[in-house]
Amino acid sequence: MRYSTQTDDTGKPIPLYDADGFEGMRKAGALGAATLDFIGDYIKPGVTTQELDQLLEQFQRDGGGVPATIGYHGYPAASCISVNHVVCHGIPSEKKRLKKGDILNIDVTPIVDGYYGDNSRMYVVGEPSVLAKRLIDATYEAMMAAIATVKPGSKLSDIGRAIEQVAKREGFSVVRDFCGHGVGKVFHDAPQVLHYVRKDSKEITLEPGMIFTIEPMINTGRFEVKVLPDGWTAVTKDHSLSAQFEHSIGVTEDGVEIFTLSAEEKAERAAIAS
Ligand code: MF3
Ligand code: CO
Ligand code: CO
Repeated sequence: MRYSTQTDDTGKPIPLYDADGFEGMRKAGALGAATLDFIGDYIKPGVTTQELDQLLEQFQRDGGGVPATIGYHGYPAASCISVNHVVCHGIPSEKKRLKKGDILNIDVTPIVDGYYGDNSRMYVVGEPSVLAKRLIDATYEAMMAAIATVKPGSKLSDIGRAIEQVAKREGFSVVRDFCGHGVGKVFHDAPQVLHYVRKDSKEITLEPGMIFTIEPMINTGRFEVKVLPDGWTAVTKDHSLSAQFEHSIGVTEDGVEIFTLSAEEKAERAAIAS
């Protein structure tokens, strides 16, 4: 494994992946995206988040993947399912039944041949409120605007700037307690990818071969979160709604490759390119 000469805020060296690494991430990312495509059909009033978790775990295993979250620092499930004011790391539960109007994030990370395909999306049960729809649209726009800044020579902080700009325009706030991360042959690696601009953060210049996630969490209310006594579930302190999207991406020689595109996103990009 090659490493960049740059380290991130945590002092860890940033891995640089070669063509084999990108190929590995393509496979893992494709299974991650397929898992999130698959589970969409099961999101209905009355289903429990545990049932969704069991379905997507089986889908991943059938596809040759192992869910990275099971046993990760003691985490008990194959996915995180975060409903309404849950910001992230919602634990699937037989007690959590979806109802009309709920919005939820499902986050999965299948390991395929040693590579981690980390991605998440928002879903709605029936029709979302006007505010919920605006939040979900803005969060997706923020993630894609951040991805659009990624190319060799650009700054890691451009990502947080792009996300904050969209959130601010909508009067929403960006969660600070969780960040994106290097990914690849390791679940959570350097660099740490902030979704906001921190003045005292070390500037990192992007280099071909860097692979990381961008996974902004945006709240309709204030940015503060708290973790519930289960040690995982993070909720907005003010109980406002929260949304998140996540892609795993790689810096190429001339831009960016997204490893976890959905079927729908792929079709959209193909339509634009033609
Ligand atoms: N998939 C999450 C991320 O985007 C991490 C979940 S770790 C877990 O980084 F243990 F909470 F599942
Ligand atoms: Co994730
Ligand atoms: Co992640």
